[in-house]
Amino acid sequence: MAGSNKANITPPRWLLAELSYKCPLQCPYCSNPLDYAKYPDELNTEDWKRVLSQARKMGAVQLGFSGGEPLTRQDLVELVSHARELGYYSNLITSGYGLTEQKIVDLKQAGLDHIQISIQASTQELNDHIAGTQTYQQKQEVARLIKKHGYPMVLCVVIHRANIHQMPQILEMAENLGADYLELANTQYYGWAHINRDVLLPTREQFEEAEKIAQAYKEKVAGKMKIYYVVPDYYESRPKACMNGWGTTFLTIAPDGTALPCHSARELPGLDCPNVKDYSIEQIWNESKTFNFFRGTEWMQEPCRSCDEKLKDFGGCRCQAYLFNGDMYSTDPVCSKSPERHRIDEAITSARATAMAGNEKPLVFRNSKNSRQF
Ligand code: FES
Repeated sequence: MAGSNKANITPPRWLLAELSYKCPLQCPYCSNPLDYAKYPDELNTEDWKRVLSQARKMGAVQLGFSGGEPLTRQDLVELVSHARELGYYSNLITSGYGLTEQKIVDLKQAGLDHIQISIQASTQELNDHIAGTQTYQQKQEVARLIKKHGYPMVLCVVIHRANIHQMPQILEMAENLGADYLELANTQYYGWAHINRDVLLPTREQFEEAEKIAQAYKEKVAGKMKIYYVVPDYYESRPKACMNGWGTTFLTIAPDGTALPCHSARELPGLDCPNVKDYSIEQIWNESKTFNFFRGTEWMQEPCRSCDEKLKDFGGCRCQAYLFNGDMYSTDPVCSKSPERHRIDEAITSARATAMAGNEKPLVFRNSKNSRQF
């Protein structure tokens, strides 16, 4: 543990428990690491309970159970029940595949507050193609069961070039399914999405048209369904305040117990991410080198260092800076003040050229065979 200025550290608020990298789906934009197959180990039930307890004691209030697919864990109901005893607001982030009515009832009785289910498209053909498995019918059925059993439902649709033309149908589908919230999450280009970027990144015209349709629908369903349209940062001129600032709010625990300040942090060099089997959450959050690496503003280079917006966006995303610039301390290249902004523009141009050529590149699907190449 490296030690730090504890006076500036606020406790974690959001705990994301990635219970397992196992997943029956193969989405080509998955946020799990490309080399996830190298990490087959999973924490046992007692380890997870300890993590939940320690994070709650520090002040975490929101808990997401995710993966991979969290339903692959046999102890999910037990963990939800433990979370309820601790007083978390808990959310299951699932593909819905394998979620039976009995499991929905059991999870409700155990105290689960909220379910977020993903659907890949508004049609069976495209959903099943993107998911790499036949899941459309079951997802529709599970969405209805979630509502039947009185959960607030978030429907999450990751948006990319293959489904952006379905925006009107996606909005109608969400309304028909009775979603309370519809998250239209434009793909974030890390990991699997990054290697598929030329095929997935919409053109600016597509993105602007889709946003217009979503905004109009928002007004139509006001008071009934909330719509969040998460904009693709490549088309912005300022970077996102990734993770609300490093080590300020979000704590992710990977299936093997590695503690991460963001889902991609394992891919940054020299961070030595700690494991919950070796340290307490309090030690990890307050004292580890990893969580202190990009806290505050001391680490910043120019133009961030003297920028009057540095406390607004914290220099953007460290993983994106590393991915594009090979320098994790540099300004996120999305920023128009970054000398590397041209790299984002080149990525947009390259994806556009692929779109114009008719998407001739094949998608790389997230599965263990492909993962073993990384
Ligand atoms: Fe790692 Fe943004 S995803 S800092």
